[in-house]
Amino acid sequence: MVVPGRQDKEEKIFYPPEDLQTNAHVPNFNSYLALYKRSIEEPEEFWRDVAQEFYWTEPPSGPVLQFNFDVTKGNINMKFMAGAKTNVCYNVLDRNVLDRDLGEKVAYYWEGNSPGHHQTITYTDLLKQVCRCANGLKQMGVQKGDRVAIYLPMIPELVVTMLACARIGAVHSTVFAGFSSDSLAERIVDAQCSVLVTADGVYRGEKLINLKQISDKALENCQEKGPLTVQKCVVVKHHGFKTGGTNERQRLQTPWNTQRDVWWHNMVDSESEHCDPEWLDAEDPLFILYTSGSTGKPKGVLHTVAGYLLYTYLTFRYVFDHHHDDVYWCTADIGWITGHSYIAYGPLANGATSVLFEGIPVYPHVCRYWEIIEKYGVSKFYTAPTAIRLLMKHGREPLQKYDLSSLRVLGTVGEPISPEAWLWYHDAVGQGRCPVVDTFWQTETGGHVLTPLPAATPLKPGSATLPFFGVEPCILNENGEELQGEAEGYLVFQKPWPGIMRGIYGNQERFENTYFKKFPGFYVTGDGCRRDKDGYYWITGRIDDMLNVSGHLLSTAEVEGALADHEAVAEAAVVGRPHALKGECLYCFVTLKDSREFTNVLVGELKSRVREKIGPIATPDFIQNAPSLPKTRSGKIMRRVLRQIARNDEDLGDLSTLADPKVVDVLFSQRCEAAA
Ligand code: PRX
Repeated sequence: MVVPGRQDKEEKIFYPPEDLQTNAHVPNFNSYLALYKRSIEEPEEFWRDVAQEFYWTEPPSGPVLQFNFDVTKGNINMKFMAGAKTNVCYNVLDRNVLDRDLGEKVAYYWEGNSPGHHQTITYTDLLKQVCRCANGLKQMGVQKGDRVAIYLPMIPELVVTMLACARIGAVHSTVFAGFSSDSLAERIVDAQCSVLVTADGVYRGEKLINLKQISDKALENCQEKGPLTVQKCVVVKHHGFKTGGTNERQRLQTPWNTQRDVWWHNMVDSESEHCDPEWLDAEDPLFILYTSGSTGKPKGVLHTVAGYLLYTYLTFRYVFDHHHDDVYWCTADIGWITGHSYIAYGPLANGATSVLFEGIPVYPHVCRYWEIIEKYGVSKFYTAPTAIRLLMKHGREPLQKYDLSSLRVLGTVGEPISPEAWLWYHDAVGQGRCPVVDTFWQTETGGHVLTPLPAATPLKPGSATLPFFGVEPCILNENGEELQGEAEGYLVFQKPWPGIMRGIYGNQERFENTYFKKFPGFYVTGDGCRRDKDGYYWITGRIDDMLNVSGHLLSTAEVEGALADHEAVAEAAVVGRPHALKGECLYCFVTLKDSREFTNVLVGELKSRVREKIGPIATPDFIQNAPSLPKTRSGKIMRRVLRQIARNDEDLGDLSTLADPKVVDVLFSQRCEAAA
């Protein structure tokens, strides 16, 4: 790694602003290099120092990191500070209240879907609410190791439930509240959850979503798959309770099963504000979070106690250069890993003040983000390229109406950001004075792995720049050979860092096959990557059958499965097509059964089938009739050709392996020009 030269004319480089450097935790490039070197050469000492920030009933004394990444040498495993004992909830709440005098500090400014609905929650408030919830869950019989499914919108009860689980050693499995009942059911069954925590309903923009009805449908669906593991369904009265009565609002039917359903307020109101934490082993499970898998079925990514705590703490502190007076806002939903690591655990571990936002960027107007930044004086702002593209469409005028002078650091995550969007973010939102940290990471990595540090790393628009402490990226070619210097290939890692996943819940074989089989000795991210002459990393996108729609990973196999589930469909193939706002959208080819006709009604049915099976984020933009699909002689669908048809790219190259090349002309002639 070298400092990119100022004289380099080919690319624009942005150097850290001096005022940020004065006070920063990592104030310049040399300090980054020195700390990075230490984290790689003396990992034991490096992480032991970080561990000192936390409270342990059994401090780490054995080896810090133990692992095997080589499938040919036995089971894949990784352990961090195994044998030490602590509790994540205690460290992110009690420690802040008791030892750091942060009890009165605001943990969250909750901002509802509608402006005017808001709430302020201090660390002391949060601790009390968490203890009540933890006691309530215990009363229901939830014990250490039990799984609790959470299907909640972005309300404080979501963080409260997660932390309550962490306090008593239960394992939370949060499911994004935009997923369908089928998706929720699949996740509940896979993790065998004993409790489901949900809400009556929520407004997303102007749309009312009946979460309880979806939850009930999911539980029915679970029952069809076997004995129902869920004993209790806890329901937050959110729709009519905190947000001001239902009189002027659409009525919401809340179906009720008196045997099973419990109102949240009835569960917590009579409980004590004190609850002893369960002291857990560093390697005990903390949570499961599902992410799309290329074979269709979602994978329950498992994270454990100590490694995740230390890693989210440290990345948050350094990547956002967190200071006591900051107001931080991450716009992600907690149902995704970004929310787990950088709305819940990382910020709380640092005693930070965050905004917790329930709504969407354009409701009730396109200035909502800017209004919130001004309202709370947000200094560190973290969002996704898809939101940036959406807001960019509305130009700079909406920004000029608000005072954004509190902003210091901007962050992005979820998909590659184009230099154009990066520059708009930097110039229009950050007014040219805020570094943009482009953070590359995954559900599996637990926290940032490639990222700039705002006061230390010179920035190149579109590059996630350099590795975080303790992370050693490698680039491999197709033969698994490690490439040095300037290179492009598979992004892999040879060693773990504390926050990396520990497995796929209940499926070691799939874990090893998915991430470790292709190149023995390496964790394979599934992303392509280029390293430039300065050692900077540029993510080029997924190189497996995954699509990234608005920053959300979707598996083509899962969408194909949902389409093929329709009785008219004989076969389906799904590819990505570039999309101005979503980054990528779904372009589907369907082959119908002989007697069936391709009609607009059918297209509508297919779209709703995908919505029902997966959720609105997976709704296809294009559905094309495909009398047959381009296949090799051995029957494999040539996705490359389908991608080119979807993009209207006629430069098809070598088609000699196709069994019937005429298929391609037919598909080109029937391409969808406009979205369905
Ligand atoms: O393809 C990469 C893309 O998102 C994938 C991980 O998705 P998920 O597990 O849902 O987590 C998203 C939030 C961490 C990666 O494999 N990705 C994420 N961040 C970036 C990115 N691609 C390019 N640049 C990024 N900064």
